[in-house]
Amino acid sequence: MQQDSAISLDYALAMAEGVGSLGGLRDDELDAERASFADAQRAVAAKTASGLLGFWNLPTDRAQLQHVRAVRMALPEHVTDALVLGIGGSSLGARAIYQALSGPMELAGIAAHTHARLHFPDNSDPWFLAALLDALTPGTTAALVVSKSGGTIETAAQLLVIKRWFESALEAHEVKQRIVAITDLEHGVLRQEAQREGWATLAIPSNVGGRFSLLSPVGLLPALLGGADVDELLEGAADMARRCQTPELRNNPAGLLAACHVLQHRLRGRSIHVMMPYADRLRPFAAWYVQLWAESLGKRVNRRGQVVEQGPTPIAAVGATDQHAQMQLFMEGPRDKLITFLRVAEPAKDLVIPHAKGPSAYLGGASLHDLLEAEREGTTQALASDGRPSLTISLERLDAFALGGLFFLYEAATAFAGELYNVHAFDEPGVELGKRLAYGLLGREGYERTGQEIRTLQAKRPKRYRVQ
Ligand code: PA5
Repeated sequence: MQQDSAISLDYALAMAEGVGSLGGLRDDELDAERASFADAQRAVAAKTASGLLGFWNLPTDRAQLQHVRAVRMALPEHVTDALVLGIGGSSLGARAIYQALSGPMELAGIAAHTHARLHFPDNSDPWFLAALLDALTPGTTAALVVSKSGGTIETAAQLLVIKRWFESALEAHEVKQRIVAITDLEHGVLRQEAQREGWATLAIPSNVGGRFSLLSPVGLLPALLGGADVDELLEGAADMARRCQTPELRNNPAGLLAACHVLQHRLRGRSIHVMMPYADRLRPFAAWYVQLWAESLGKRVNRRGQVVEQGPTPIAAVGATDQHAQMQLFMEGPRDKLITFLRVAEPAKDLVIPHAKGPSAYLGGASLHDLLEAEREGTTQALASDGRPSLTISLERLDAFALGGLFFLYEAATAFAGELYNVHAFDEPGVELGKRLAYGLLGREGYERTGQEIRTLQAKRPKRYRVQ
């Protein structure tokens, strides 16, 4: 079902007219970025057209959805739980969809699930996975192994653990039925392993990177299993993709989002970018945003190869909870932040506060949603009155259509921000050294030299700065 645009962006309080010129951008400053933005938009469009960049076309790729549906149908009917084994871009998006679109009681395990319960043991910390395996039954569980590269150490280790767990309780053919590998179309050891083992596979297109992959099978299969309306999710994303196609900055929501952040950083020193949804359902969305923004925009060199060591620092917060935690810092600390408030206009559920005598009498008749809205608006205006800038994104309601649009809005904004910051937004070279050193420590074949390297580094670490 096609809906009207479900998302709007209000940038008045990031502008000088709204918050004064110390914290806000002047219109001429934003307009001076119009030509650069038009170039940025054309560059992203050209990379998409030439096949270099794949995320932009995912919302309209109906063939991938058919494959996802076929794989879902082939899973054993009585699957009640699915483990999503992946990390970073191979986990955060699917988790954000699940939390946003499932009911709170389902998430808490209190209400009966009409669909599979999803679990995201993304970290290697055994605390969560061990407890999950104690609680789940192999016969009613499936495992979705998600890795673009196929070689990610945390995911590979979890897969070995889960495979053994299945094998200890099930016949070989039953194990085979309940593991799905979601990985690169051609490359990587996971694809080879899946072929060898006879597991079902779904492809992440080669031109789609991990953190831009949630509208591929990476997000779609978990979403389908968890009961989300994936057609609406993709429709919402496609609608936003159309809105973000114009090179005219003032009409392009992702362009405005990118330009406000980049200019606030460059011209007003706002290097910390806070994402603050006033909705519990969007807490994991904020975590997804943090990874997308940080890994895409924090870079040592720019696209000319010059060392710049630049990038904004994204922070996740949630309203109203963080009004009692981080807000003191946002309100009175360094003037280095641009906050994005994310609001849902119509709540899925609401509770009316009863009338009562006493000090809380003024609350009677309002709803908890009214309270949340008043707190958000109060905080926004309090920041503005002190010249502290913010953006507000409003979702009419939080459904699959709006969520798809929101995800796409941020993917497009990240691609544009990469262009405006002049960095490669689609790689992550900075995390490679740490990975190689860990391989060395674990004795992986081919990493003997890095093993020695890390032991040398460990030996050099001064011992006298330690207290027990
Ligand atoms: O965005 C990215 O590329 C990363 O965060 C990856 O998603 C993460 O490192 C996991 O990689 P992979 O999907 O190859 O297992």
